[in-house]
Amino acid sequence: MIENRFLRLAAPGIAGLRPYVPGKPVSELERELGIGDAVKLASNENPLGPGERAREAIASLLGELARYPDGGGYELRGLLAEHHGIDAACITLGNGSNDVLDLIARTFLAPGYEAVFSQHAFAVYPICTQAVGAEARVAPAHDGSKGPRFGHDLEAMQSLIGARTRVVFIANPNNPTGTWLTRNQLRDFVEAVPAHVILVIDEAYFEYVEEAEYPDTSRWLSHYPNLVVTRTFSKAYGLAGLRIGYGLSHPEVAELLNRVRQPFNVNALALAAAAAALSDRAHIERSLAVNRQGMAQLIEGFSALGLEHIPSVGNFVCVDLAGPAARVDAALQARGCIVRPIANYGMPDHLRITVGLAEENQRLLDALSGLLGW
Ligand SMILES: Cc1ncc(COP(=O)(O)O)c(C=O)c1O
Repeated sequence: MIENRFLRLAAPGIAGLRPYVPGKPVSELERELGIGDAVKLASNENPLGPGERAREAIASLLGELARYPDGGGYELRGLLAEHHGIDAACITLGNGSNDVLDLIARTFLAPGYEAVFSQHAFAVYPICTQAVGAEARVAPAHDGSKGPRFGHDLEAMQSLIGARTRVVFIANPNNPTGTWLTRNQLRDFVEAVPAHVILVIDEAYFEYVEEAEYPDTSRWLSHYPNLVVTRTFSKAYGLAGLRIGYGLSHPEVAELLNRVRQPFNVNALALAAAAAALSDRAHIERSLAVNRQGMAQLIEGFSALGLEHIPSVGNFVCVDLAGPAARVDAALQARGCIVRPIANYGMPDHLRITVGLAEENQRLLDALSGLLGW
């Protein structure tokens, strides 16, 4: 552990945190290796980037950047309200959906309260829980006997909910595992969550999922006032660098989140790009097609190499190296491929690989196959 003389001054919970370790930027790896064609399949971004409509919206706003953004997100919230068939008062905009998760934690958690989530769940849940001094109750994931291995075990999660629980976080699908919950499984769980608990269903990869049994839980909001659904423009919409996401909830929950929200938490380019991207269905369709083909290519490649993977409905997939993955990760980097080791998620034998363009996927598979003779 790093010595830090200010730790004793920090708020409760901070001592137990470690900074989130982001993937190495492509430019840095290229500089280190003296190459110009590194590929990054590490952060679950859309390999096509933003669509044309979003690009045009960004370009047309450059002359306006001396002005503060619309702090109420009036236009975008109106468009999202139409898109989801709900009232604009139900929408909270965030600087990425991470910001909304953080707003939820700051609004509903504090020392003495608990948040429940699954083992191997998205890394931001423990961060925002501990940062406000609340206690994280982590439910063991499925071991493969009653549900998909590494997936959320809803029964185990339910058994951790108690009088001090204020928030439950569910990622559907989950990152990094790519595992998902069906409509019926989630519906039973939502029914069982008591009224003193805010249930967050994080649907960051919603647009990518093509399973018939995958639910759109934004439609359940009118039945469950304690439900918050989060979505993002970082994934299928290709706007990760701009940082914009949103929460959908009962208007009284949104009103509390908006008390905590910084007035200009979402920047002007992000607001304009998201508004334009929302109606660019053709870009989403193209992105889905690239993901479908790329996922099939990676899975076929893994199986040709004799590697198991965790079935995923997102734009990423975990491959099982059947032994410590750190060595393979370092060797892939030396070959110009950046992927994501997930030992910090309790999965030291797996690497998470984002689905890229066909040539990027091939580059990764070729590099992997060159390594497996070790
Ligand atoms: C499950 C999940 N939720 C939320 C996010 C946050 O995305 P953003 O803050 O870019 O909207 C991510 C990003 O990787 C994610 O995987």
